[in-house]
Amino acid sequence: MAVSGEKRLPQTTPASGGMARKLILALFAFLSALLYKQLQPPPPKITGTPGGPPVTATRTRLSDGRHLAYLEFGVSKEKAKYKIIFVHGFDSCRYDALPISKELAQELGIYLVSFDRPGYAESDPHPARTEKSIALDIAELADNLQLGPKFYLIGFSMGGEIMWSCLKYIPHRLSGVAILGPVGNYWWSGIPSNVSWDAWYQQLPQDQWAVWVAHHFPWLTYWWNSQKLFPASSVIAYNPALLSEEDKLLMQKFGIRTYMPQIRQQGEHECLHRDMMVGFGKWDWSPLQLEDPFAGDGQGKVHLWHGAEDLIVPVSLSRYLSEKLPWVVYHELPKAGHLFPIAGGMADVIVKSLLLGDADQ
Ligand SMILES: *[C@@H]1O[C@H](CO)[C@@H](O)[C@H](O)[C@H]1NC(C)=O
Repeated sequence: MAVSGEKRLPQTTPASGGMARKLILALFAFLSALLYKQLQPPPPKITGTPGGPPVTATRTRLSDGRHLAYLEFGVSKEKAKYKIIFVHGFDSCRYDALPISKELAQELGIYLVSFDRPGYAESDPHPARTEKSIALDIAELADNLQLGPKFYLIGFSMGGEIMWSCLKYIPHRLSGVAILGPVGNYWWSGIPSNVSWDAWYQQLPQDQWAVWVAHHFPWLTYWWNSQKLFPASSVIAYNPALLSEEDKLLMQKFGIRTYMPQIRQQGEHECLHRDMMVGFGKWDWSPLQLEDPFAGDGQGKVHLWHGAEDLIVPVSLSRYLSEKLPWVVYHELPKAGHLFPIAGGMADVIVKSLLLGDADQ
């Protein structure tokens, strides 16, 4: 019997070559899985589900089953002469409504409803959301609350950008619109490149990157803003370098938001990151193509407000849009930064100009 000396030395046989290839493949699969896991946002913790945050707000159910949480201010909608829907900005929620005074609400008969945008606080995430879907959500909210065929809209910051979507997709539902310090999309068609570059370079470099990633590689947005190698969006991180002189003073007031932990409680991806992916995404239309929604009735107006010292959202795009859209009533506030809507008395000034047409600002 052949007992010893039979063991073969390792050779480069087809079998062992296959082995190496398999190992490399396995390693590749492992690294891809690891990378994939890094790129994939964790599933949102949905409000009102086991393991998710509790429902504390009043909510309404949309036709696709999603819930929107909302908060009402002012007089009752039955008594109201004016009904306003407020749309909040980035990293905010229904509590961040325009702070109009009780006196003005009583005097003019104003009902204002503010809601958590999808994925924020207690409103269900909407992973398929687009710049159009939010306009349809707003119309459905108005219907569920029986606000009637027409209502006013006020949107701030990223909620301001959403006003353009509403002007495009639900103009027949609007009585008047106030757009406050709106975020702009650098890739909107019709914006001359010197204007968009001018706005672009007013952002901090890390925000240029965060916005660039959200536009070109939306599927990398979660990873970009959660990795630690490069600085992520400074807007997400509350960088004080983004505050103008006036904003620094206002931030003391704005900073104490007891409800802040609620805002991102379902996870950052479905609120913050998706806001960036949609807001800076690839739109197939531009606000520059919009027509005056009130051309026929001559009643309603679109007001656009922007602070000249806004360091969070550069004024350039608003300035350009207001030049090209003569039906937009433009109010540029020379000393204001981004947070002017919460400055003393400003909310009432904004609302009066919207409802009564006092354009003395
Ligand atoms: C862009 O270029 C035009 C035409 O050359 C000029 O009138 C305008 O002031 C420039 N705008 C900015 C923001 O640089």
